[in-house]
Amino acid sequence: MARKPLMAGNWKMNNTIGEAVVLTQEISNQYEKEWPESVDIVICPPFVDLKPAKTVFDFDKTKIAVGAQNVYGEPAGAFTGEISVPMIKEIGCTCSIVGHSERRELFGETNEGVNKKVKALVAAGLYAIVCVGESLAVREEGTTDEYVCAQVRAAFAGVDAREATTCVVAYEPIWAIGTGRTATPEQAEAVCAAIRATLSEMFGEEVAEGMRVLYGGSMNPGNVGELMVQPNVDGGLIGGASLKAASFVQLIEACL
Ligand code: 13P
Repeated sequence: MARKPLMAGNWKMNNTIGEAVVLTQEISNQYEKEWPESVDIVICPPFVDLKPAKTVFDFDKTKIAVGAQNVYGEPAGAFTGEISVPMIKEIGCTCSIVGHSERRELFGETNEGVNKKVKALVAAGLYAIVCVGESLAVREEGTTDEYVCAQVRAAFAGVDAREATTCVVAYEPIWAIGTGRTATPEQAEAVCAAIRATLSEMFGEEVAEGMRVLYGGSMNPGNVGELMVQPNVDGGLIGGASLKAASFVQLIEACL
């Protein structure tokens, strides 16, 4: 089945509101109305930038979506410092990243927490970009597929096939994030195929064939081509290269 690629920019903790407006306007200025025929595009800026980014993209009539980088699993209540799904939905977000390795490593995010967030998102009609990926130690041990597929199973536990169809899995080997060291196309393909096989076990082949599996980790204009030709790589979750309009646009254009 032909899957439409998804290019997702993860700005991480970069760009004040003023800077976000400049960057979204730069992207918007280069926007071509043919893009959405070939590729879906979403930008995931910090929470405070969501509304301004959405306003720029809507004002310029671009079909570029915005999503959050994280969300809390409860709809409202005494959870100081957290942001709920209804809050990002009201801004117009279509999705949220969940379980990024930086959140798992630095903020104690667990598989159970990730699962709660996935359920909260799909229940509200948004989709999750579920991040999974192994450390260098796990890769050297030779247990990458088991480790990553266990993360996939945990993230989608109790989610039904109908809810899962819109969701996305992003394979981000931790050793490739922000390091300039990309997984080889063969390494990326092998793990993305294993992820799809796990999704197929959970949700059936038809649903799994329709779900998008992204690669993330030092994706840039120089390596996007060889990654995107892999049959199980359906796009990218891009950090550094999404922070400059020129490189992000080149990644989009690689999907046309
Ligand atoms: P880089 O593209 O900067 O390696 O970041 C990848 C990433 O973590 C995206 O979520």
